[in-house]
Amino acid sequence: MSNLFNRDIISIKDLSSGDIDLILSESEKLIDVAEGNRKLNYLSGRILATAFFEPSTRTRLSFETAMHRLGGSVIGFAESKSTSTSKGETLADTIRVLSTYSDAIVIRHPNEGSARLAADYSDKPVINAGDGASQHPTQTLLDLFTIKREFGKLENLKVGIIGDLKYGRTVHSLSYALSMFGIEILLSSPSSLTMPPDVMEYCKTKTKINDVKLDYLIEEADVVYVTRIQKERFPDEEEYQSVSGSYKITRSHLIKAKSHMIIMHPLPRVDEISTDVDNTLHARYFRQSFYGVPVRMAILNIVLGGDVDG
Ligand code: CP
Repeated sequence: MSNLFNRDIISIKDLSSGDIDLILSESEKLIDVAEGNRKLNYLSGRILATAFFEPSTRTRLSFETAMHRLGGSVIGFAESKSTSTSKGETLADTIRVLSTYSDAIVIRHPNEGSARLAADYSDKPVINAGDGASQHPTQTLLDLFTIKREFGKLENLKVGIIGDLKYGRTVHSLSYALSMFGIEILLSSPSSLTMPPDVMEYCKTKTKINDVKLDYLIEEADVVYVTRIQKERFPDEEEYQSVSGSYKITRSHLIKAKSHMIIMHPLPRVDEISTDVDNTLHARYFRQSFYGVPVRMAILNIVLGGDVDG
């Protein structure tokens, strides 16, 4: 049994590089099941609770697909107003109850630290599907999986990250993980949305990480990871408007890119990648979002100790 059995996944920093390697290698074995070409019942009789206090398309539905593809069932909610939190129930009490109905809980919540709090009150494993501007570890695992599928390795690559580095939880988790593997990180953002100092300090102890000009980043990087401005995290509309639309990747940016460079994006996209990039050889963001299914299948199967004999 893996040491991830029955474990919470709250921060990518909770995982060792060995844990990550295991999840990625198990994900590889599950691609054809994720595509619906083969059926497995590893999680038959098991129930996943999805507690989404913030909107989601990919994370919630890929977790649900992952559970169904492994023969398990899903309960949950996609917005808090349909739950008893709207009557004043605390997150702690909601989680205590969900943990008696299910075998694992996936939570997304606007508050940083909410997933850790949920884990403190749950008898069952809790998986962080995004806690405010803090982290989104399972997104990072599918991001790493995408990179590994493309390049056959994680080492000796340069990853450029563009966008809202202040409020973007995906880029915080991703930067921690890339630095664990010694991957060089190039950053480009509006000056008011730079990477938080604590993330920079952690990464600098493990790899090269530097702010650079956008054009340089696109020329140098093997992977260009673009993110949207996280409008919902801004304290006021005026501050958001001051940066809205301040960067957009178009086909003309790609002329000097390496021929093997891939463009990733956690999605949803707003306006930061022009749609004319979608059918270039560089675009990988829709394939990347599909990889959420095999990677979350692997995570659930490992955490729940699925019966690998079916
Ligand atoms: N990448 C991601 O977290 O997408 P959703 O917000 O649609 O889940």
